[in-house]
Amino acid sequence: MPTSPERFLVTGAAGCIGAWAVRLLLDEGVPVVATDLSPDLRRFELISQGQAGQQPDFATLDVTSARDVAALVADRGITHVVHLAGLQLPFCAADPPLGAMVNVVGTVNVFEAIRAAGGPIGLALASSAAVFGKPGGHPAGVVADNSPLLPDSFYGVYKAANEGTAKAYSAQHGIGSIALRPFIVYGLGRDQGMTSDPTKAMLATAAGVPFRIKFSGSMLLTYAPDCARAFIASARAAAGSGEAVSLNVPGHRVSVPALAGLIEDVLPGSGRLITWDDHPLPVPSVLAAPAIHDAVGPVPNIPLAEGVRETVKGFQDALAAGLVSPMPS
Ligand SMILES: NC(=O)c1ccc[n+]([C@@H]2O[C@H](COP(=O)([O-])OP(=O)(O)OC[C@H]3O[C@@H](n4cnc5c(N)ncnc54)[C@H](O)[C@@H]3O)[C@@H](O)[C@H]2O)c1
Repeated sequence: MPTSPERFLVTGAAGCIGAWAVRLLLDEGVPVVATDLSPDLRRFELISQGQAGQQPDFATLDVTSARDVAALVADRGITHVVHLAGLQLPFCAADPPLGAMVNVVGTVNVFEAIRAAGGPIGLALASSAAVFGKPGGHPAGVVADNSPLLPDSFYGVYKAANEGTAKAYSAQHGIGSIALRPFIVYGLGRDQGMTSDPTKAMLATAAGVPFRIKFSGSMLLTYAPDCARAFIASARAAAGSGEAVSLNVPGHRVSVPALAGLIEDVLPGSGRLITWDDHPLPVPSVLAAPAIHDAVGPVPNIPLAEGVRETVKGFQDALAAGLVSPMPS
């Protein structure tokens, strides 16, 4: 029988960060209701390989349904929410109305559900570095937690709207939340979105096949389980705070060629398999002193070489077990 007084709801639990959040909460012995529009839990299975741990309590949930989100939060006695359900950059551009429904209305629905349930439910929601727009919009390309939001994509605009929604629910209903802005997440389970190429390159080279990364320049990489830990810690820190805070998620800055070098260190000879297009990613990669540690306590940010090694090893095991196949460039 679970003894934890906490009961987490994770939306977007079939996705990369969501699968890690569910895995880590289960490992802590915390009851978690894992929800997603998609019942496909292959990412959870991929990151759980070799672990005979508890299976998640999964419920299909479309965050665009206000009624269903409210019913789930109330009926399951939820104390904390990690809200990750969303459509990433290329999917929002491909279908802006759907992107707005899922990313913006879906987030309003989560806040409404928390308001209706009452009590100090702690919410961590996924914003994004895309709220900052291009690096050139910021002095020397450096962004701080309180840098101006200058989104220049549907996705970035929707994420900026969510940060505004959080402030309105704090001001009008005293709901505490932390909006986290990951930059580029890598690790097992990261297989979709414009910035998934670094992880796809690790999978391809683990399988011995070539991969072309569709950008160059520098990027700020955060290891997926570290990012998931930041969301869990933020939901806890937000509970009862009444404030809405937006925070950048730390990572490690690396150029595309240097990342290829780190993969080569783990898989000698693989460097020749990785190539890249010659245009930089339009996302900032330099952070000014992130405040996340002061706001939510210690959150890990393991060295890049360690995260790359763990990811490549995880892919090698998964390839041998038939859990994944290399994805095309
Ligand atoms: N991965 C990154 O580098 C990164 C960077 C910045 C922000 N983020 C944000 O973090 C969150 C999680 O990212 P991820 O990499 O795990 O994404 P992901 O694409 O792997 O997962 C998103 C999940 O949301 C689900 N979803 C889509 N529509 C839904 C709906 N209507 N109702 C319920 N679920 C729905 C999808 O089925 C998917 O499982 C997203 O909101 C994303 O925008 C991610």
